[in-house]
Amino acid sequence: MYSRIVGTGSYLPEKIMTNHDLEKLVETSDEWIVERTGIKQRHIAPEGVTTCDLAEQAARKAMEAAQVSPSDIDLIVVATTSADRVFPSTACLLQDRLDVRNCPAFDIQAVCTGFVYALATVDKFIKTGAAKCALVVGAETLSRLLDWTDRTTCVLFGDGAGAVIVKASEEPGILSTHLHANGQYKDLLTVNGGISETPDDFRAGRNYIKMKGNEVFKVAVNTLGEIVDETLAANRMEKSDIDWLVPHQANIRIINATAKKLRMPMDRVVTTVDRHGNTSAASIPLAFDVAVRDGRIQRGETILMEAFGGGFTWGSVLLKY
Ligand code: ACO
Repeated sequence: MYSRIVGTGSYLPEKIMTNHDLEKLVETSDEWIVERTGIKQRHIAPEGVTTCDLAEQAARKAMEAAQVSPSDIDLIVVATTSADRVFPSTACLLQDRLDVRNCPAFDIQAVCTGFVYALATVDKFIKTGAAKCALVVGAETLSRLLDWTDRTTCVLFGDGAGAVIVKASEEPGILSTHLHANGQYKDLLTVNGGISETPDDFRAGRNYIKMKGNEVFKVAVNTLGEIVDETLAANRMEKSDIDWLVPHQANIRIINATAKKLRMPMDRVVTTVDRHGNTSAASIPLAFDVAVRDGRIQRGETILMEAFGGGFTWGSVLLKY
């Protein structure tokens, strides 16, 4: 039994923030941001619009594409680092919105690797027979965790959501998943506190994303190269067997380095980082949906998804679409 993606959807808030808009907030330039990251613009959720709002729109599109109704769904997993509330989970809020009744629903927090962790988890539910039709979402409003006076982080992130419906199938879908984490790197990419560690700052909204960008960059490039090798070896595949690379969209230079390692021409790599920025757990399902809907990714093709994020966490999913 395989788990197979049968429908995709995504959603971006309407408001676009360009690099030129950021030039008015911090000492930066369009030229610097494009050259160092590849990002030209990002979408920002307006006040009052939450992660669950974005997740709901993406989920409805994925359900429509997969032609499934709320009563078909027997598992909901939302990957997010920017949940609407401390609790209930965004997955429970989403379950209520979609009128899905009485199925397990939970969030997964693995920062930018969240969607890969979520897909790997759902794959195991389906392979053991614990679920037959799962809704898997990556959704974020990381703009709410940004210090808009810190030019080293506020230029990088954006908001959005992507979703897939995964069903049990006798035909190949997910071929393998590979998850890793190393908490020794906890301080290189982090939010400086939270509910338990800094309760006063948390209540006052003083917890922000902090990153040692160039150190993260180096580890990300090396680690993503290794995960590509690990995934291909586990499946006895050659680099040339991969039809599409759908990477986490953090930085075009990291994506280029991974594509080079795979000897993949950039026209076989799905990139949205220029338009979406880094949407953390939402970036892979967003990019995947874009390439499915514009007709680039076709049924039967072999897709490699890979991600790296805070923790550090990293991982990959190899699948036949
Ligand atoms: N505009 C202009 N100058 C800037 C900006 C900015 N927005 N930000 C930093 N600079 C300056 C720095 O202050 C520094 O100046 P200095 O030399 O005078 O000290 C100079 O630019 C170079 O800074 P670096 O940090 O060395 O720049 P680098 O080339 O490494 O690019 C970047 C920074 C884009 C953050 C890069 O390191 C990166 O992409 N890192 C990885 C990000 C990532 O992959 N994150 C993982 C996923 S995110 C997650 O999990 C939540």
